[in-house]
Amino acid sequence: MEIVILPDSDAIGSLAADAIGSLLQRKPDAVLGLATGSSPLAIYNELAARCDAGSVSFAKASGFTLDEYVGLAADHPERYRNVIDTDFVSRVDFAPGAVHGPDGLAEDIPSACASYEAAMAEAGGVDLQILGIGTDGHIGFNEPGSSLASRTRIKTLTRQTRIDNARFFDDNVDAVPTHCLTQGLATIMSARHVVLVATGTGKAEAVHHLAEGAVSALWPASILQHHPHATVLLDSAAASRLQLADYYRETYQAKPAWQGI
Ligand code: GLP
Repeated sequence: MEIVILPDSDAIGSLAADAIGSLLQRKPDAVLGLATGSSPLAIYNELAARCDAGSVSFAKASGFTLDEYVGLAADHPERYRNVIDTDFVSRVDFAPGAVHGPDGLAEDIPSACASYEAAMAEAGGVDLQILGIGTDGHIGFNEPGSSLASRTRIKTLTRQTRIDNARFFDDNVDAVPTHCLTQGLATIMSARHVVLVATGTGKAEAVHHLAEGAVSALWPASILQHHPHATVLLDSAAASRLQLADYYRETYQAKPAWQGI
């Protein structure tokens, strides 16, 4: 796991956009794993600017979102499929229908989850997965206790996650759905490169467990310690509980810039 501590969100967005830009140059039809939430916004803003400037194109690429609330109406602004369209997809040049998400309105949820896994496999798997992290260490919506071998399935949201996400539902925790569909931890682990972003002191405890704690279902993101190519992009606040922060800083400073992440 490579940990990079950067001055701010703009620097995080720029470094991640470099990695995505170079992936798209090598492989224009790359498959991207897309996360919602505030953490990836700096990446999406930077990619939208580079797409406008003509230095990156998603015209042949495709995308798969991580997760979705169960039961939100198709036109609900907080439905993750709509959020990712607003935050990213509509701002770049993906071909129509190139970005997919799990169907939170499916009548047969197990079969919708199996179809989603099949579609990702059919596309050749995810080349680069963007991730945020919940304050309780969840990735996607794999809440504490999730099987480390899980694939896309329905999950019950924790009270803490519903409280954290109430800000998107007029601060009304009761309006936050109780269930979600999420790529599993094993699904996320299948991506060839995982880039996780965390900023702010609210994420510091989760980041500590992700990078330096025991690998445990109690802190689901800790499974990424087993990933052969996981990059964690942090600001100083999110890195504030890392025991080896100085070492991570020194290591990254000594790394030749051409290597990228
Ligand atoms: C939600 C999403 C996660 C996201 C997390 C953190 O629970 N399902 O994918 O990583 O929130 O969100 P934020 O980046 O807004 O802190």
